[in-house]
Amino acid sequence: MQPRLMIYRHDEFPCHLNWQAVSFIRAVWPWINNGLLRETYGAHLRPVHFALVLEDLLISYAAVIEMTIGHTGETVRLFGLGNVFTYPSFRKQGYGSQVVTAATQYIQSSAADVAALFCEPNLAGFYAKAGWQEIHGVTIFTGKGGLPTASAATRMMLFVSEKGRSGRGAFESAPLSLQHGW
Ligand SMILES: CC(C)(COP(=O)(O)OP(=O)(O)OC[C@H]1O[C@@H](n2cnc3c(N)ncnc32)[C@H](O)[C@@H]1OP(=O)(O)O)[C@@H](O)C(=O)NCCC(=O)NCCS
Repeated sequence: MQPRLMIYRHDEFPCHLNWQAVSFIRAVWPWINNGLLRETYGAHLRPVHFALVLEDLLISYAAVIEMTIGHTGETVRLFGLGNVFTYPSFRKQGYGSQVVTAATQYIQSSAADVAALFCEPNLAGFYAKAGWQEIHGVTIFTGKGGLPTASAATRMMLFVSEKGRSGRGAFESAPLSLQHGW
């Protein structure tokens, strides 16, 4: 039986899939919300959930979030791709690529100017296959009242709108300042 791709707006994301996604994240990325996570992303980020499911089981998952940021004097609609995972028994069968491709297509046809994701350097090729481009500019996270920290993660981006495409150089040369990663 092949998993089925389901796409949900945040208020439609079924409870049983939410808890499977949250449980994976709590086990694998325990520093997120100090393990006190109850949803993959808050409603204020307007998440859209991409889930490959086998009946009631979550196999592979990715989410797209939305925000508006200021960058080099411009207001930019930035979408984020995050919480990408496949449950270990189902890896290396193309499921991760399937959710990433579906999420990427969604972003490409959205109102985003640009999109970004953060990953380990060894996953850059995995995302590049779906069209993401590695951008070497500095990313600074301003955090919750602490000192700003520069991210060591690889930043990959999509340049979606005309405004986003023409602003590509600015994303490579000027630091990208964000409250938090995703
Ligand atoms: C990264 C991750 C999501 C990939 O999921 P996946 O379902 O294994 O992804 P895919 O099967 O589409 O692709 C993985 C690799 O398997 C290969 N592959 C795909 N189908 C295959 C098949 N039928 N047979 C053998 N290999 C295959 C792909 O070529 C790919 O290789 P690459 O890494 O060189 O690009 C998964 O390993 C994971 O959940 N990791 C832990 C969480 C994590 O780190 N997430 C990323 C956050 S940025």
